[in-house]
Amino acid sequence: MPKEAVCLKIPKAEGQKTLDLANRLGLTDKTLQIQSCSQGFLCIPLKREPTEKEQTDLKRQLTEAQFSVQVFAEKRQREKTLSEALAGKLPPQLLSSLPRAFDAVGDIAIVEIPPELEAYKGAVGEAVLQTHKNMQVVLAKAGKVSGTFRLRDFEFIAGKHRTSTMYKEYGCSYYVDVAKAYFSPRLGHEHQRVAELVEEGETVVDLFAGVGPFAVPIAKNRKNVKVYAVDINADAVQLLEKNARLNRVEGRVHPMVGDARQVVSEKLSGVADRVIMNLPETASAFIDVACKAVKPCGGVVHFYGFMRAPETLEDQKKLFSKAVADAGRRVEDFTCAKAVRETAPYEYQIVLDAVVR
Ligand SMILES: C[S@@+](CC[C@H](N)C(=O)[O-])C[C@H]1O[C@@H](n2cnc3c(N)ncnc32)[C@H](O)[C@@H]1O
Repeated sequence: MPKEAVCLKIPKAEGQKTLDLANRLGLTDKTLQIQSCSQGFLCIPLKREPTEKEQTDLKRQLTEAQFSVQVFAEKRQREKTLSEALAGKLPPQLLSSLPRAFDAVGDIAIVEIPPELEAYKGAVGEAVLQTHKNMQVVLAKAGKVSGTFRLRDFEFIAGKHRTSTMYKEYGCSYYVDVAKAYFSPRLGHEHQRVAELVEEGETVVDLFAGVGPFAVPIAKNRKNVKVYAVDINADAVQLLEKNARLNRVEGRVHPMVGDARQVVSEKLSGVADRVIMNLPETASAFIDVACKAVKPCGGVVHFYGFMRAPETLEDQKKLFSKAVADAGRRVEDFTCAKAVRETAPYEYQIVLDAVVR
């Protein structure tokens, strides 16, 4: 039966990013079908009108978001919601505490269990498996992302007992082990955006490469590129090597284990047309390293950081420019400065694309 719903209209190219954002806000109406509307645009059905704050957040992160009301076709088979699957198994007052979304890394569901659901986490895990047939493992977050390797602890709450899986993103496949090497499915649009900026003939240095979600698509997109992919975590680099082979780009990706500062100083000084710095918590301490890696004639630096209110993107640009100047170089231009995802209330992961001379 067709049904009227709030419609979020966005360019097709921003489809995945928009779905990630809308899902995280619990806005997507998964009972209705997403539609192709006017040429090059998608209409995503929403459960309700976003609040003013949600609309502002969405518009900040999406270039051409428009809201309207539209008729959508219903999906043929509606999946049971977690709350429906758990009705009768949980005290009714706890149903509203159920996680509204989870991170899916391949067939691993990573959920956040609020303290009041601690005693019921096994039931929640089973319900995730029951309502999402493509999931095989359910892990509960058991701490924050921390340490040099940016890892977090997990607890198995349902399904198979493993932390490794295969993840697909924009036509690339990755071996991932969420217990051994950092990986987030929330940055897919950034991995692809940066990959699309790289031109034939470039040398790229990814200072904090993880399992390769920037390095692999860059090498897959372009035949004549050289990507030096550095990470201090040997397990991450081992997965990166496997991922380069899996995607048949091992000739263009050069995995290197070590501290970015030392590796650049010893092997990658002045080689890069482009440097990627995705270590948001501490990347600002490595801006001099990125400057050292950039060719003497200049290059582009993709800097990821965290921005906490009341800080602004202009503040971030100033801090970055000062660090570049302290390293003896200068920012000619910022070709992009934006929030890429909300990481906590009033906290965003941001990216600056800077032309450094
Ligand atoms: C936030 S993760 C990003 C990984 C990858 N770029 C991605 O998007 O999934 C940061 C990575 O930096 C690595 N790392 C931390 N400190 C480092 C350092 N000093 N030198 C090289 N790698 C480092 C960690 O092991 C981790 O894999």
